Amino acid sequence: MERAKKPAAIPVSPIQPTPQVSISDDSSRVTASLPTGERVDILLYGATVISWKSANGKENLFLSSKASLDGSKAVRGGIPIVFPVFGPPKSDHATSRLPQHGFARISRWEYLGKSSSESSTLPNSKGDASVKLDFGLSDSMIDSSNWDYPFNLTYSVTLSQDSLETSLVVRNTGASNYGFQVLFHSYLVVDDITKTTISGLEEAAFVDKTQGAKEVEPAKKPISIGSETDRVYTLPSENTITVSEQGTQRYEITRDMLSDVVVWNPWVEKAKSMADFGPDEGYKQMVCVEAGSVSVWNTLDAGETWEGQQRIKVL
Ligand code: BG6
Repeated sequence: MERAKKPAAIPVSPIQPTPQVSISDDSSRVTASLPTGERVDILLYGATVISWKSANGKENLFLSSKASLDGSKAVRGGIPIVFPVFGPPKSDHATSRLPQHGFARISRWEYLGKSSSESSTLPNSKGDASVKLDFGLSDSMIDSSNWDYPFNLTYSVTLSQDSLETSLVVRNTGASNYGFQVLFHSYLVVDDITKTTISGLEEAAFVDKTQGAKEVEPAKKPISIGSETDRVYTLPSENTITVSEQGTQRYEITRDMLSDVVVWNPWVEKAKSMADFGPDEGYKQMVCVEAGSVSVWNTLDAGETWEGQQRIKVL
């Protein structure tokens, strides 16, 4: 029987889907996905992003089929973090006892938590637009026999519908200043390296590491890769880098406080010589475009912080 004075239904707003974040059973990795299908996987070892998929399931980061994911060595692929030294350290520098590319990529980081952007109120919204995952590393978590300077690193990975952002905050928690270098060693997937071009670096001089660190004048044209390539470009952070295939733009890289860009592809012989690079032909499906600050030392005074970030957008 209908009640005469039936109370009006309380209006409820539809439940918006939200990003999902999970930690693997063995606590070795964090996975986040958006309601729209994008997904990112991050190993706590090195806080290494090892996979970033678009909503259509397409992988954007190259991961070697022989990469070690068990914490025994730096991951060959994804986005390893280079800190506090790029390349092999010099014997007369504070980083001299560290391995190539420093300790960040071979240390186990702590997962600090997530934050999501506000849900959209648009009627056709598919839920939260992004999720940010934070990771931390400090001097008490590394082998202090190789590095004398207290620090606190906060690394944030933000997954959005069309982009992945990585940002690093470095805090000097010690009493004296020190210098560091930093780089996001992003391995981007391409379908065919011989049809890939990189633009945005045309006006930048570079150091060619395949020619004994020779300084080379700006090429004045987009980069094509047809042999081992290992170059450090220096150019204003405001300049956008675009990776295209057969004339179609595929990725756009924007940077903040990162005035160097390394372009690396090992090509045939070097790929074969690396025990953890696979398959042998894998060099055809990748190019590293690495945003960083590596041509100078960033000096951080006691108590000071520095922050740099990159955004890789899928076009
Ligand atoms: C690049 C360097 O950033 O990383 C190259 O410019 C280096 O010189 C490459 O070979 C890979 O380094 P690693 O230590 O991961 O083998």
